[in-house]
Amino acid sequence: MRHLLEINDLARDEVSEVLRRAADPALSKPLQGRGVALVFEKPSARTRNSMEMAVHQLGGHGVYIQGHEVGFDVRETVEDVTRTLACYYDLLAARVFRHDVVERMSALNTRPVVNLLSDRAHPMQALADLLTLRAEFGELAGRTIAYIGDANNVTRSLALAAHAMGMRVRVGHPAGYGFDAVDMAVLDQAGVDVEFVDDPVAAAAGADAVYADVWTSMGQEEESAKRLVDFAGWTIDTALMARASDDAVFLHCLPAHEGEECTREVLEAPNSRVWLQAENRMHAARGLLHWLVTDAK
Ligand code: CP
Ligand code: NVA
Repeated sequence: MRHLLEINDLARDEVSEVLRRAADPALSKPLQGRGVALVFEKPSARTRNSMEMAVHQLGGHGVYIQGHEVGFDVRETVEDVTRTLACYYDLLAARVFRHDVVERMSALNTRPVVNLLSDRAHPMQALADLLTLRAEFGELAGRTIAYIGDANNVTRSLALAAHAMGMRVRVGHPAGYGFDAVDMAVLDQAGVDVEFVDDPVAAAAGADAVYADVWTSMGQEEESAKRLVDFAGWTIDTALMARASDDAVFLHCLPAHEGEECTREVLEAPNSRVWLQAENRMHAARGLLHWLVTDAK
């Protein structure tokens, strides 16, 4: 049984197949009469709605479940919740605070488990990012993606995904906001040779895509004031984007905190692809779910 806890749970050719299905306007509806559990311990605009619509487009029924309703390890164990949901649903998807929750869910091998964002990874976002980059550039090998900001869950999945497509990965962050040892071990294991820089201008220089995410992720709210101070000078604005390559695009997983990690001007600029990225969440989800329930081995 296959699960998607991190983007490198898929081989490179499997990622390509998922992206092919994402762009296929005539996919079959393998979820007819079947359900998908969508458990969220954190809020969501894109992930919940793109998943619900993708499930619907594949003929299935997605059920949104708030984390507190099932209460992982509070009301009952992660394992007991998982075994119960597996009685009703063909796929289990969850957005969780701790990555080990989706690991424990998948370890039971009751149903395929899809990580809808954990503190470590956001693979569904990475699939949409690749779809967006492919539409823009076609072949991605040799292109440079520059992530500027807090090295977080989105950054890790993006780095793994971009590397799998042969891209060069650059991460610019202020001191103290790089990957921790756990993430570095995952990246090293996957052979991702991240170029780290400690200056936003050097990070953007000549990049084909500049990528932003919030400085304070969900679950880190108590660090927000400190982060605002530590990230001063790291806002991606029009002047910084001008350091990137002439045909560079701006990407952001959203939600954006305007005036913090990027300006409104950058979000709305002609070279911004953030709304296409948001739309691609649904197409990528449809491609992934279709592959998972039909051909994943
Ligand atoms: N990018 C993303 O996952 O957005 P949501 O948190 O709104 O789902
Ligand atoms: N890094 C952010 C991504 C939100 C989609 C977070 O985890 O909150």
